[in-house]
Amino acid sequence: ATSGLGTEIVSVVNKLQDVFTAVGSSAAQIDLPQICVLGSQSSGKSSVLENIVGRDFLPRGTGIVTRRPLLINRPPSTPQANGSAVSDKTSDGDKHANENEWGEFLHLPGQKFYDFNKIRDEIVRDTEAKTGRNAGISPNPINLRIFSPNVLTLTLVDLPGLTKVPVGDQPKDIEKQIKDMLLKYIMKPACIILAVTAANTDLANSDGLKMAREVDPEGVRTIGVLTKVDLMDQGTDVVDILAGRIIPLRLGYVPVVNRGQRDIDSHKAISAALEHEREFFENHASYKGKAQYCGTPFLARKLNMILMHHIRATLPDIKARITSQLQKFQAELATLGGPHGDNSASSVVLSVITDFCADFRTTIDGGTNDLSLNE
Ligand code: GDP
Ligand code: NA
Ligand code: MG
Repeated sequence: ATSGLGTEIVSVVNKLQDVFTAVGSSAAQIDLPQICVLGSQSSGKSSVLENIVGRDFLPRGTGIVTRRPLLINRPPSTPQANGSAVSDKTSDGDKHANENEWGEFLHLPGQKFYDFNKIRDEIVRDTEAKTGRNAGISPNPINLRIFSPNVLTLTLVDLPGLTKVPVGDQPKDIEKQIKDMLLKYIMKPACIILAVTAANTDLANSDGLKMAREVDPEGVRTIGVLTKVDLMDQGTDVVDILAGRIIPLRLGYVPVVNRGQRDIDSHKAISAALEHEREFFENHASYKGKAQYCGTPFLARKLNMILMHHIRATLPDIKARITSQLQKFQAELATLGGPHGDNSASSVVLSVITDFCADFRTTIDGGTNDLSLNE
């Protein structure tokens, strides 16, 4: 089992992008959505994102730790591992340098970070260099590119949390400044919002859900994520929320258990954290009957489905663009009176798209609506 985005979608999208790159057609580009986390300070946003990526590299902790937007993406030109799936690598493996996978910051061109702990150190260092050490914030993003055959050419955005009272060097209007910063990202229609709320707080007070609703009133691109389910008072649970009885969300909620502060301090590995999460839901009286709809792996599956929907929805447009390009070429050739040129590259793209649509029709259209599983 893997915590990251599913094998299937990574290999499919990478294959499509390989073909498109090979043809060199600017008409053929899949713009994958951005995934942003949204929620109150210390609700667990960075922890959720890190679990989705399946690598240890984000600064996490109590208080305001994430103080600038962090844009994480994978350049399309990254060499592919032949047919390999999402890695099962855990943070145990992270300690060893892996020649296949490294990070690079836009502000440090050419410097390769093979040790993901050093990536975290650099995020902290550059945050302090630009915003000081005293809780200052800045909308100036940090750009991190992950070169890996195992991740999607997808942008994940870690964002500072919503907060109300200024501390340290923060301006008086901190609440508004952070809101404005977040709005720039979450208002984009292609942004999938992970609205994070700690389960040991009241859902009705969730700043993340409230703000998500402002930009996505229909709830077509908002997934509710309930963190800290392990910290709820004895005898309470999130069952009513999952069932949509409190604040219904079209795409539903996923409860998760991330690493607590003590786990962070003792450098608990992601693999151990995911194992602990699985055991928690499987053994908890309230969740054992629906453990497959709980936890990070289910959140990743949900995201996969949404991405598949998105890709499939954009393919007809790409197909139309390629077809019209092809027709233009043929018309030009005809006016030159020459023989028909070699259109094989474009034909390959078209057939890949057609196959893709056929292959995934059943996954996407068929049977249960996996996206709205609430119970
Ligand atoms: P952010 O400020 O929203 O990015 O939150 P972080 O990911 O930095 O986490 C804030 C604090 O909450 C850290 O001390 C985490 O260890 C802790 N935390 C986050 N999620 C959970 C969880 O599911 N369970 C427990 N016990 N602690 C969590
Ligand atoms: Na925090
Ligand atoms: Mg954070």
